[in-house]
Amino acid sequence: MTATKPQDGITVSADQDDPAVIRVGNLTKSFEGRPVLRGIDLRVDRGSIVSVIGRSGGGKTTLLRCMNLLERPDGGTISISGEPVFADGRQVHGDLARLRQRVGMVFQRFNLFPHLTAIENVVIGQRCAKVAEREALERAAALLKRVGLAHRGLAYPDQMSGGEQQRVAIARALALRPEVLLFDEPTSSLDPEATREVLRVMRELAAEGMTMVLVTHEISFAREVADWTVYVDDGVVVEQGPPSEVLDRPAHERTRRFLTSLDTLD
Ligand SMILES: Nc1ncnc2c1ncn2[C@@H]1O[C@H](COP(=O)(O)OP(=O)(O)OP(=O)(O)O)[C@@H](O)[C@H]1O
Ligand SMILES: [Mg+2]
Repeated sequence: MTATKPQDGITVSADQDDPAVIRVGNLTKSFEGRPVLRGIDLRVDRGSIVSVIGRSGGGKTTLLRCMNLLERPDGGTISISGEPVFADGRQVHGDLARLRQRVGMVFQRFNLFPHLTAIENVVIGQRCAKVAEREALERAAALLKRVGLAHRGLAYPDQMSGGEQQRVAIARALALRPEVLLFDEPTSSLDPEATREVLRVMRELAAEGMTMVLVTHEISFAREVADWTVYVDDGVVVEQGPPSEVLDRPAHERTRRFLTSLDTLD
């Protein structure tokens, strides 16, 4: 146990034996007085892959943004690797930037810098994290190779396909050696071929034991790689459990209706 340095004078202990990389308890968040998260409990254990599914507007992106410390919750707790970050909605950790490096995020629309090449996009975050320039370049080159883009290092985002850009975004997220990667619908703006390329990289990461949280409408992929599925609707976790239960034998009518609506889209 070590003590983290809180901002407001309260001492909160970090539990380094906690198997959870991310732990979220009774999390609440409103925008302009409208509740978007209404008491979410979720645990992401080291080495696990958690898929989050649910209707549009249900709060999935907001939940990921809270887990990545990009959004400040109104209430509830968030711990990263046993270190309390928010307690009762109050920030109890003094260095969000350092913690955020442990939680990589891949966005639906890639969010690459358009004026930087692929390799520079992978280097730049490392520069902010004070990784030495040579090391940052070596990591970037190795990661671009790992996502099948060794030959595209000097390309700019607008010279790359959507699938290539998303794989650069994955390399960028991996460059800071995060303990967990959050994916927010990483393939929903991609065509089937690009989707396959991105899912292949994600499948490899899963096989290597990367801890991942995956917001996705790719139900068959979620069934294949995830070991836990969470159905979120209207700011609450309606049900969670192994994919074989939640996806194949949902206990709740709301989950059933959502899954049926996806089938009708196909
Ligand atoms: N910054 C914001 N300001 C105001 N309202 C917001 C903000 N971000 C999200 N919302 C609202 O919060 C609700 C939940 O949004 P969120 O993006 O988390 O849903 P989602 O489950 O990710 O939906 P989708 O499947 O369409 O991506 C929506 O009604 C959205 O309009
Ligand atoms: Mg979303």
